[in-house]
Amino acid sequence: MKHLLSAGDLSLDQTLEILNLSLEMQGVNSRDVKKLPALNGRTVANLFFEDSTRTRFSFEIAAKRLSADVVNFTAKGSSVSKGESLKDTVLTLEAMGIEALIVRHHHSGAANTIAQADWSKATVINAGDGTHQHPTQALTDALTIRQSLKGLKDTGDLKGIRVLIVGDILHSRVARSNIDLLKTLGAYVALAGPATLLPSSATSLADEIYHNLDEALASGFDVVMMLRMQMERMNSSFVPNAIEYSTLWGLSAVRFSGLNSSTLIMHPGPMNRGLEISSEAADSSQSRIVAQVANGVAVRMAVLYKLLAQESGAK
Ligand code: CP
Repeated sequence: MKHLLSAGDLSLDQTLEILNLSLEMQGVNSRDVKKLPALNGRTVANLFFEDSTRTRFSFEIAAKRLSADVVNFTAKGSSVSKGESLKDTVLTLEAMGIEALIVRHHHSGAANTIAQADWSKATVINAGDGTHQHPTQALTDALTIRQSLKGLKDTGDLKGIRVLIVGDILHSRVARSNIDLLKTLGAYVALAGPATLLPSSATSLADEIYHNLDEALASGFDVVMMLRMQMERMNSSFVPNAIEYSTLWGLSAVRFSGLNSSTLIMHPGPMNRGLEISSEAADSSQSRIVAQVANGVAVRMAVLYKLLAQESGAK
């Protein structure tokens, strides 16, 4: 395995291997000296054409904790503004000795384009491409679920766990990656959202579809994962207005208070508080939103370690 482009490319064994490696990385992160020499002398680039806080910083921290040298490229302030192409940007970075590219791009398929090109030799990790995939977010979420739900083995799968993903599924690479990975791990995955924000493939992607959030929540789920309304990807009006969306599809304080006290609340971030999720839900003891961010560092350390230290000769 040379690249990580899609959660759907990971077998159950590969997924469990990365999750279990992440447990070891959590051990490193709990030490006073949070450092391993694994990637000493290796150079990794964060190649971000789209904004990010969690993914970019956690990949940077993860690479540094493995002793790699890290350079950060953001499209703003680079020669992309002078018209330089993706190919020439990659060729330029690789000419400087960069071995791994962590790619976030607004174009679905950008990471695949680099990974499959004969002009690039770098290992490519997809850090979110358009509405397509965000595999390390799904690994982070799976690790968080496995560690947060009572009765699950620390090293096992998610068989029988019921996960509800709510909101703007259509534009969400997080939803697509989570559906892929959760199903590989044996979870039951349901989607809930307005018809305009569900992809036409929704019924084949998920085990169940809800068009009413209260009905969905009443069915009982171990995990309720709220998604951000991705206004920046909407070129027309998908919902009448924000207040109506929040009323029909938001995890309000009232809806949150009706949930079982063991139901986990998740959100990949960034959150629109008061729109898709209330502060009462986001800041509650059932919320794992901060844990998701913390686990992101361990998961990204595990992915970098697997691809660059364990399997660097692989194709
Ligand atoms: N979840 C996530 O991808 O957040 P960022 O956009 O801040 O990286």
